[in-house]
Amino acid sequence: MKVTVIGAGNVGATAAECVARKDMVQEVVMVDIQEGMPQGKALDMMESAPIHGFDTRIVGTNSYGPTEGSDVCIITAGLPRKPGMSRDDLLAKNAEIVGSVTSQFAAGSPDAAIIVVSNPLDVMTYVAFEESGFADNKVMGMAGVLDTARYRAFLAMELNVSVRDIQALLMGGHGDTMVPLPRYTTVGGIPITELLDDDTIHGIVERTKGGGGEIVEMMGTSAWYAPGAAAAEMTEAIIKDNKRILPCAAYCTGEYGLDDLFIGVPARLGADGVEDIIEVDLNDDEQDLMATSADHVQSNLDTLARLKDEGKIG
Ligand code: NAI
Ligand code: 2OP
Repeated sequence: MKVTVIGAGNVGATAAECVARKDMVQEVVMVDIQEGMPQGKALDMMESAPIHGFDTRIVGTNSYGPTEGSDVCIITAGLPRKPGMSRDDLLAKNAEIVGSVTSQFAAGSPDAAIIVVSNPLDVMTYVAFEESGFADNKVMGMAGVLDTARYRAFLAMELNVSVRDIQALLMGGHGDTMVPLPRYTTVGGIPITELLDDDTIHGIVERTKGGGGEIVEMMGTSAWYAPGAAAAEMTEAIIKDNKRILPCAAYCTGEYGLDDLFIGVPARLGADGVEDIIEVDLNDDEQDLMATSADHVQSNLDTLARLKDEGKIG
């Protein structure tokens, strides 16, 4: 089996390494427009294989021939945020890049599943869906696994417990309007509402919403270790067909009252990509937050359509 990672920058190279270290596919192909860079990173990773103990072959390239016949593609090509920028500021430029790399990839790998990482995530996933012409279950975005991981990490720090015992659900778009769901968050089966007071939970939810920005402010660019690991976890669920229930930006056709957009929802991931969207009961407050988040995603989609109409995006 083969996994392609497009964009061999911070997130892409980390995702490629995480996939390789899982030793679950024969080949990982990294594509980037920068000459020499994906080749050099691939060789460096191959030289780490004897230490880590994996047999996956890693190839770096500037063309799409080596990607042909891929089973999964992770798209990270595009610009990252700088301090003071929102994910939405990247829309026009990244739509061009994601559109172009998707069509070049899709031609040679018609049966692949595509996991989009580039921001603004929910809209770039729509761009990849349209450009690939793939079935909606084969295209998805990575955000919820990352945002949930941040939320779980913050909860584990607060409670001084293992991250492995924290199960959590987070929905909505990848941005400040994301919807963490404390009612569906447990520690060793115990609802966090039994363990933490409302103010502490609220503080952790707010930190999670700003989790991407917190790191941008520290480093001057956006995160890559957790994002790369999150994309690799989704890839593993598809490659191994192990039916994980993970929050993904999935194409909604009526679920949660939403239609014709990609947004974070709990999904069953397996060999067919998004095999099911799970609809959990939301209370009125949660539904309002989800509606606000969906409105934000829709307004970005409207901006994308306007830029296309004005000929500002090809
Ligand atoms: P980066 O700048 O380190 O890497 C991006 C890479 O894309 C560069 O190596 C660049 O040469 C390459 N690239 C640009 N145009 C290309 C093209 N046409 N074909 C092939 N490669 C191309 O950026 P980083 O930090 O890896 O972030 C990548 C994207 O992922 C950004 O849009 C960022 O906002 C997004 N992101 C999304 C997250 C999520 O949760 N969904 C989390 C973290 C980052
Ligand atoms: C993140 O959440 C910026 O989307 C990127 O780290």
